[in-house]
Amino acid sequence: MKLSKELLNSLISITSNSAIACYPFIGKNEKILADKAATDIMRCELNKLDIKGEVVIGEGELDEAPMLFIGEQLGNGNGPEIDIAVDPVEGTNFVAKNLPGAMTVLAIAEKGNLFNAPETYMDKIASGSHISNDVLDLDNTVEKNIKNYSDASNKKIEEITVCLLNRPRHNKIIDELNRLKVNIKYISDGDVSGALLVTNKKYGVDIFMGIGGGPEGVIAAAALKTLNCQFQGRFLFKSDKEINRAQKMGIKDLNKKYEINEIVKGESIFCATAITTCDLMNGIVRKNDKFITETIFTHDKTSLDLIKKEFTIT
Ligand code: FBP
Repeated sequence: MKLSKELLNSLISITSNSAIACYPFIGKNEKILADKAATDIMRCELNKLDIKGEVVIGEGELDEAPMLFIGEQLGNGNGPEIDIAVDPVEGTNFVAKNLPGAMTVLAIAEKGNLFNAPETYMDKIASGSHISNDVLDLDNTVEKNIKNYSDASNKKIEEITVCLLNRPRHNKIIDELNRLKVNIKYISDGDVSGALLVTNKKYGVDIFMGIGGGPEGVIAAAALKTLNCQFQGRFLFKSDKEINRAQKMGIKDLNKKYEINEIVKGESIFCATAITTCDLMNGIVRKNDKFITETIFTHDKTSLDLIKKEFTIT
């Protein structure tokens, strides 16, 4: 099966409309309401599609509804079987505080082709398509990864930029990067965008690394795979509850390091619409009776494309 252009266009409209639904909550310190507004529209619009979809990356399980939960069936049932990954608001704090970096995100693949990830942390490492998949490895030390990258890309160590979430859990990595004189681009949230900054030299990031959400890792991997970029992830579990959940989802080896091809198989579509302005695209603008949105997407080309759309306010 080929994921159609029509499906891509529908998904772009869905992330755009979900982002627009969040617009009234920008800067209102209401992250739950913002998330709910985006989720409600996303669910309603996905249910109109000619697909037999299932949420494999969502926000919790059935008992934690009303968010789009793992296992939820979406679509009108009259079409191909599709795995769906949703993140109606990636960067809820950004929306609440009117800070740059919030977006609404969707990724899909044919049934069985997107990893069914539990809601745990994931240790991640990503880089662009200009290096081969044996250069970086989650099992290497930070120093080895940096030296390997320097050799592979012909870049001096002090010219390399690493992006990571600014969290105390990353202090050791940060100390090591500082010792090596590597540049650090800190992000305060939103590591889907962080990972996507490796996709093009213009974003000035060579490597993305560190621990963030597992679902966000799978979603980023969907885009990175289409763009022939590098990604590895390993889930990290904080409690027995998380371990039980992962085992219920079929994860046998809890310490497994996943390669990008194990996380996303075959063809996929990734779409992300900015709510507030991001490194990757501009946030929603309201102009007279219209909202103007910008969405980045990956489908069948090896480039991260951007589309601008206008929606009349009714
Ligand atoms: P939300 O939009 O769900 O708040 O997630 C934001 C985020 O920064 C993700 O991008 C990232 O993967 C995760 O939170 C990191 O989690 P933590 O804040 O616990 O370090």
